[in-house]
Amino acid sequence: MSNILVTGGAGYIGSHTVHQLLQRGYNVTVLDDLSTGFRDAVPEPRLHICSLFDTEQVTQLLVRQKIDAVVHFAAFIAVGESTKEPEKYFTNNVAGSLSLFSAMAAAGVKKLVFSSTAAVYGNPVSTPILETATIAPVNPYGETKATVERALVWLDQCRGLRSVRLRYFNACGANAEAGLSERHVPETHLIPLLLKAVVTGQPMTIFGTDYPTADGTCIRDYIHVDDLAAAHIAAIEHLLGDGESDVFNVGTGRGFSVREVLAAVENVTGKPVPHVFGDRREGDPAELVADSSKLRSRLGWRPEYTELERIVASAWPSEQRRWA
Ligand code: UFG
Repeated sequence: MSNILVTGGAGYIGSHTVHQLLQRGYNVTVLDDLSTGFRDAVPEPRLHICSLFDTEQVTQLLVRQKIDAVVHFAAFIAVGESTKEPEKYFTNNVAGSLSLFSAMAAAGVKKLVFSSTAAVYGNPVSTPILETATIAPVNPYGETKATVERALVWLDQCRGLRSVRLRYFNACGANAEAGLSERHVPETHLIPLLLKAVVTGQPMTIFGTDYPTADGTCIRDYIHVDDLAAAHIAAIEHLLGDGESDVFNVGTGRGFSVREVLAAVENVTGKPVPHVFGDRREGDPAELVADSSKLRSRLGWRPEYTELERIVASAWPSEQRRWA
């Protein structure tokens, strides 16, 4: 079976992907500096605590483990923070990625799956969004991902580095059976915050009720983290089968408003969600829904979690423990 290096494998989406890779029989090595990841999210012997910026050590790891392909998650992900500390985001997400790519070039590793985001589209002209939509990020976080994506197009041409770029929509849910969960600090994402409000009784804030949507709140495409992980497996198989570089959206194709997500949380927990209404959050587009037909048709991927209630239910046990 192939040898896969997962950077950021101790993080939320990374750890779910590591779990699926192991289940499929891949030989997995995890590289993580544990700046935001968790040691206990990864089987101990597989974890190598190392900075992406240590090009020499990363090169040695790639050679020693005879790595065939890299899945690159390691990055900072908070949109709000990226507007306050853009240098930190460009350094970590862009320069860190380039250090990894230099190590891959030195070690002769020519296959990469890159963790990108719907944030590269900024405020889309229309939804559902196709991969051919204009790339126009509206925050530094999205710009860092768009920059790495552009670098990868050149690294393919100049170095023969084949890459699949996956643009995630709203990652959510958890694999409770595997003991994995979402643990961002601080937490900014909607579903964990709704569940936190249920557990603590402290109201969460709905950001904006005057958007041009049916109920006035923002619409997002919530994609279960296990379905995202499955998209990475499909991408790896494509690359290991000598597939060309490509880019894919990863979403269900169905949008839910903030009020609809709140209702789903009330259905699953059987409790009211304490909430208040606040102003719009800066930089939030009204509606982001993926057209993922390319991923379906080219790589044969299908989301298993198509009902919001099932997604919320998968997160509920770990969120109960987290906020108790
Ligand atoms: N929201 C609230 N209250 C909260 C938190 C969120 O009303 O306390 C709303 C937001 O305004 C938004 C929706 O819930 O309308 C979802 O917000 P999230 O913060 O959960 O997710 P985002 O859509 O802002 O962000 C996601 C990813 C980012 C990615 C972005 C692409 O988490 O990494 O999509 O636009 F950049």
